[in-house]
Amino acid sequence: MNKRITLLPGDGIGPEVIGSAVKVLKYVIEKFGVEFEFVEMPIGGASYDKYGTPLTDETLQTCYDSDAVLLGAVGGYKWENLEHSLKPEAALLKLRKSLGLFANIRPAKVYPSLADASSLKKEIVEGTNFVVFRELTGGIYFGQPRGYTEEKGWNTMVYTREEIERIAKMAFEAAIKRKGMVTSVDKANVLEVSQFWRKVVGDVSKDYPMVQLKNMYIDNAAMQIVRDPRQFDVILTSNLFGDILSDISGMITGSLGMLPSASIGTKYALYEPVHGSAPDIAGQNIANPIAAISSAAMMLEYSFDMSKASELIIDAINRALQEGYRTADIGNEGDKIVGTKEITNVIMSKFEEIYNEQALGVFTL
Ligand code: IPM
Ligand code: MG
Repeated sequence: MNKRITLLPGDGIGPEVIGSAVKVLKYVIEKFGVEFEFVEMPIGGASYDKYGTPLTDETLQTCYDSDAVLLGAVGGYKWENLEHSLKPEAALLKLRKSLGLFANIRPAKVYPSLADASSLKKEIVEGTNFVVFRELTGGIYFGQPRGYTEEKGWNTMVYTREEIERIAKMAFEAAIKRKGMVTSVDKANVLEVSQFWRKVVGDVSKDYPMVQLKNMYIDNAAMQIVRDPRQFDVILTSNLFGDILSDISGMITGSLGMLPSASIGTKYALYEPVHGSAPDIAGQNIANPIAAISSAAMMLEYSFDMSKASELIIDAINRALQEGYRTADIGNEGDKIVGTKEITNVIMSKFEEIYNEQALGVFTL
């Protein structure tokens, strides 16, 4: 298997956390005897500074020519006042749209040893394990008309049947392999586009009688996630609502620094941490690389069918956390607070430990 991965480190802490993820990836693939080729390209503010655009044709073409894309983060104060199409965020949106990445998958899982790192009570978050399926290439993010004048501003929330069907199917398929529950989140008490969303999701659900479908309004869903996050299995929602819910979900797991994501289409896939570029802590070796490393683990699972390797990475993260290793964002008194590079090395040594234990038959493979 000779696969090609495009790396888009981007801005702020992006290069550091991608550096960690690549280090772990290289180590893991060597263990598994596979070969990956890595090609690094600029994106976001870093690309704008060099080429005057946040996404060059070369970067886009390199993504088209690869088997998977691993992205760090884009954005920062420095580029905030640029016009809309030149902002680092515009590169991400264009990339998602161009690669047809309509499904954004964001797991929210509380690592047992981090249950007290959440801003919510341990009793509430412990055991939380759900996943958000966010529609990523439609809705109000892309709807026309859009714009603003001196007097008014406007955007359009629009969904076609096909756009809703394909993400709904993915969510139902995922639910079959999980606890068999889909909660579809909308604002059907106010918005026609949501009434349509609800109708189409209801139609799709008929093909999945083994999955229980619940509909929930976005305001209630936001409240329910902090009230009782364990009630959820698969959350299915639109672009804007998913953006909001995935940040809320991030907080209950302790830190946005923990959350990976996969953005998948019919042909391409991109993996990225949910967190942003955090320019205030960039270059200080204090960023949490776990979201980026877990995103790389998701890549192994979804793009390369290497679920065993993926699982081992997550187990290694778990063990590092259990032994008290933390980056500053999730650290408390008494923890072993270490830097980005150090926690990466710890995760690799835990990987090695588990790998050897399993090879010796301590665990069954
Ligand atoms: C995310 C981010 C992006 C989004 C921004 C950076 C455009 O918040 O991936 O959640 O809104 O989708
Ligand atoms: Mg967001």
